[in-house]
Amino acid sequence: MKMSTSNKGVFISFEGIDGCGKSTQVQMLLKRLEEEGIECELVREPGGSNISEEIRNVLLKTRPESMDSRTEALLMTASRAQLTKEKIIPALENGICIIADRYKDSTLAYQGGGRGIDVEYLIELNEFATYGLDPDLTIFIDISAVDAKNRSNVSHPDRIESIGLDFQEQVRELYLALAERYPDRFVKIDGSNSIEVIHGTIWEKTINCINAKN
Ligand code: ADP
Ligand code: TYD
Repeated sequence: MKMSTSNKGVFISFEGIDGCGKSTQVQMLLKRLEEEGIECELVREPGGSNISEEIRNVLLKTRPESMDSRTEALLMTASRAQLTKEKIIPALENGICIIADRYKDSTLAYQGGGRGIDVEYLIELNEFATYGLDPDLTIFIDISAVDAKNRSNVSHPDRIESIGLDFQEQVRELYLALAERYPDRFVKIDGSNSIEVIHGTIWEKTINCINAKN
């Protein structure tokens, strides 16, 4: 089953390396959408449904050296399959806007760019896990790993964040390649700008996307 654009709700995903400013912007966008009376739901990956949150606990609590990269890729996409079927597709069908803090591109960037699994294979795996569903708009907040680390206030980095700067730079490179590959849905935003400037750009892109869908 391939999802078509017949969904009434708009689907927006946020992507970027750890500490790029994603959560900050997601919260600002949600607040603005609420003020405008646009019904929306936030989902986060890995996680977002009961089963997906259980998978998240396995993924983010395991000691780094003990999880194989393929296991990691399969758990990330298993979590995505459950979230997509249980939450995202029904919401979109009901005209509710979905804001996803990470979606399928995270697997390409982290397990592909970061861990070195073949990206073409991961694209197929994602197709299977998401029933072919793509976001209407993917906001990629681009920032260097050093800049992200310097501003990050994460005191207990999870197992993936703790892997280091080289890893995050590889992840960033893959995101940059994805922005080139999928220009119709990707918007690359300079994450070194101020929080307000970034929000302004995201709001403009969001409204354009909502208007184009209606
Ligand atoms: P992420 O969700 O991508 O890991 P956060 O939104 O939690 O990142 O941001 C990480 C830290 O950087 C937070 O302390 C946040 O307040 C700060 N921050 C976010 N965006 C900016 C920005 N554009 N300029 C400066 N600091 C920022
Ligand atoms: P989280 O604490 O949610 O981080 P963030 O606030 O940056 O989103 O942890 C999610 C971690 O999992 C993050 O380091 C990215 C990683 N991840 C993958 O490696 N592959 C994936 O498919 C997804 C969705 C996340």
